[in-house]
Amino acid sequence: MTKIALVTGASAGFGQAIVRQLVTDGYKVIACARRFEKLQSLASSLGSDKVYPLQMDVSVSDKIDAALENLPQDWQKIDLLVNNAGLALGLDKAYEADFSDWLTMINTNIIGLTYLTRQLLPQMVKRNSGMIITLGSTAGTIPYPGANVYGASKAFVKQFSLNLRADLAGTKIRVTNIEPGLCEGTEFSNVRFKGDDERAEKLYEGAHAITSEDIANTVSWVASQPEHVNINRIEIMPVSQTFGPQPVYRD
Ligand SMILES: NC(=O)c1ccc[n+]([C@@H]2O[C@H](COP(=O)([O-])OP(=O)(O)OC[C@H]3O[C@@H](n4cnc5c(N)ncnc54)[C@H](OP(=O)(O)O)[C@@H]3O)[C@@H](O)[C@H]2O)c1
Repeated sequence: MTKIALVTGASAGFGQAIVRQLVTDGYKVIACARRFEKLQSLASSLGSDKVYPLQMDVSVSDKIDAALENLPQDWQKIDLLVNNAGLALGLDKAYEADFSDWLTMINTNIIGLTYLTRQLLPQMVKRNSGMIITLGSTAGTIPYPGANVYGASKAFVKQFSLNLRADLAGTKIRVTNIEPGLCEGTEFSNVRFKGDDERAEKLYEGAHAITSEDIANTVSWVASQPEHVNINRIEIMPVSQTFGPQPVYRD
């Protein structure tokens, strides 16, 4: 039986590459995001029997419910949930940041992800099979100036997926958190810098950053492990990115 995956944030970046890769791997994929026309063109390029475009704003729980209720019968058994939709907004210090940006990140990266997971987990538990892959970030482990709520939301995502594993003990359901560092070729920094594309572009100059395809390959590898193997976490960075010293500011 063909497996069905549901991928959030499928209108751009990682999500779009993950949909393409999962279709190549033989999945039928429900592609979710707010921008429906982007999902439609993805579906028409990959085949409407392979990709089902589903408009969903994960930051509003009623919209998640409505979207799931609209799924045709033969797309309702979800084997793989890829919780990828998410965003960073701004890079301001906590004492200068826009609080409404913080709420948007919390509503999307935390509340949306947990609500969707809560809605889809029971069917997996009932069947005693399934897999959840979440997109965390190195920012969920490594602090940096301006990451404040974004980093904290990804720390939540990491701990939530590890705690899911604890709750799912004794079942065959697998959970993995993928934690990327600097990745280029997505809309992530354009969104973070609110349309300042020049600033976004500068961030990647000469960095040979990770690409969406690298992340899609990682998802594909995680999902293709034998049934008895659970990859708990993967932290992935470009070779050009590494760790700095802990700074000491002196008088
Ligand atoms: N790029 C990086 O450097 C990087 C590094 C580490 C982790 N990540 C994480 O990886 C994930 C994907 O990032 P990306 O680089 O691919 O970003 P991206 O190109 O900006 O794509 C983000 C996707 O999320 C969707 N999205 C945003 N808000 C949404 C909402 N309220 N409801 C539904 N969908 C929503 C967007 O679609 P619509 O706008 O159409 O809704 C878009 O498809 C995010 O969780 C991000 O935090 C990225």
